[in-house]
Amino acid sequence: MYKLNPPNRILLGPGPSDAHPETLQAQALPLIGHMDPAFIEIMNEVAELLREMYGTENKLTMPISATGSAGMETVFVNLIEPGDKALICVNGLFGERMTDVAARAGAEVTRVEAPWGQAIDPAQVAEAVAKDRFKMVAVVHAETSTGVKQPLEEIARIAHDNGALFAVDCVTSIGGIPIEADKVGIDAAYAGTQKCLSAPPGLSPVTFNDRAVDVIMNRKTKIQSWYLDLSMIAKYWGGATRAYHHTAPISSVYAIHAALRLIHEEGLENVFARHATTGLALQKGLEAMGLKLLVENPDHRLPELTTFVIPEGIEDGPVRSRLLNEYGIEIGGGLGVLAGKIWRIGLMGHSCRKRNVMLVLAALETVLSDMGYGCDKGAALAAAEAVFAG
Ligand SMILES: Cc1ncc(COP(=O)(O)O)c(C=O)c1O
Repeated sequence: MYKLNPPNRILLGPGPSDAHPETLQAQALPLIGHMDPAFIEIMNEVAELLREMYGTENKLTMPISATGSAGMETVFVNLIEPGDKALICVNGLFGERMTDVAARAGAEVTRVEAPWGQAIDPAQVAEAVAKDRFKMVAVVHAETSTGVKQPLEEIARIAHDNGALFAVDCVTSIGGIPIEADKVGIDAAYAGTQKCLSAPPGLSPVTFNDRAVDVIMNRKTKIQSWYLDLSMIAKYWGGATRAYHHTAPISSVYAIHAALRLIHEEGLENVFARHATTGLALQKGLEAMGLKLLVENPDHRLPELTTFVIPEGIEDGPVRSRLLNEYGIEIGGGLGVLAGKIWRIGLMGHSCRKRNVMLVLAALETVLSDMGYGCDKGAALAAAEAVFAG
């Protein structure tokens, strides 16, 4: 008899992360209709829990029925009209992707750049907006390709002082580090489910404030994408009449509901603290092994995604294969210009646990030592343990 039998892995890559068993079980619950009052109730609860994750009161907060890249596309196709100017901060693959998506939506794109592994300097954003008027300034909060955490407040202020909307990619930050959209002044944001929320991939939570909604409602041109047109989707997710737009992915909504409830019950502050300690323990462990972290400024290191340089003389592929085949551990390789040069270890959501830090450090120490890398055996575990001990 046919039976799907995927291997049981420990997901410590850049996403997806391990899902909590309750989240996986939620997907197996019976289907109900997407207009069933009971489902509408679940949608309302999901929207409310997402507001908590984003730190917002925004009415227009809901998951788009597709992955994080569709959330990115939603922001640009709804807010940009052909010929609008967008200033996009690029310091990794996902900032780069934003420039492509924005240009396809008709934007005239100006880039502000930083080397991969560094945060964007707000002074460069200030310099760029002094030279031109932009409709939007966009940045990636947690650059998954590099492990950089981007401070947002100053760029938000610069954008607003110049009359631009401020849009943020929160795919890898949501549920891992605070976003505080209302306090920071984020006008539009999108996220993913498969990182620190620890739900399966397939939805993209988005949030738009009144200022952004105003821009959407007063467009001169029709939104080019039917599927991602928020003026229509909003009527299904929040409108008084709940007009049918598309068939919601019921089981995915169950899963995100369960994942968000688990975070809510643990307490957002506790979840952030868990990520901060666990990520730091991993980073101290790797450094004790003599490995070099890619992000030099400790204030710009993401706790949920650590990037480090592959040592001289060690090959990328064989190490990751051994981790996967002998230990069942998935870690990530580098992307773009960093392919073959770095590894990425994610400690996101349900994967973000002491057990996984100790496991991956021990496995990495063994595999690297076998391949001729000299390190002080046991130092990594001791350094990590010291962080957990406080
Ligand atoms: C920062 C960031 N933005 C956007 C995306 C795209 O999300 P997805 O792969 O879910 O479409 C990702 C995925 O890894 C990401 O890490």
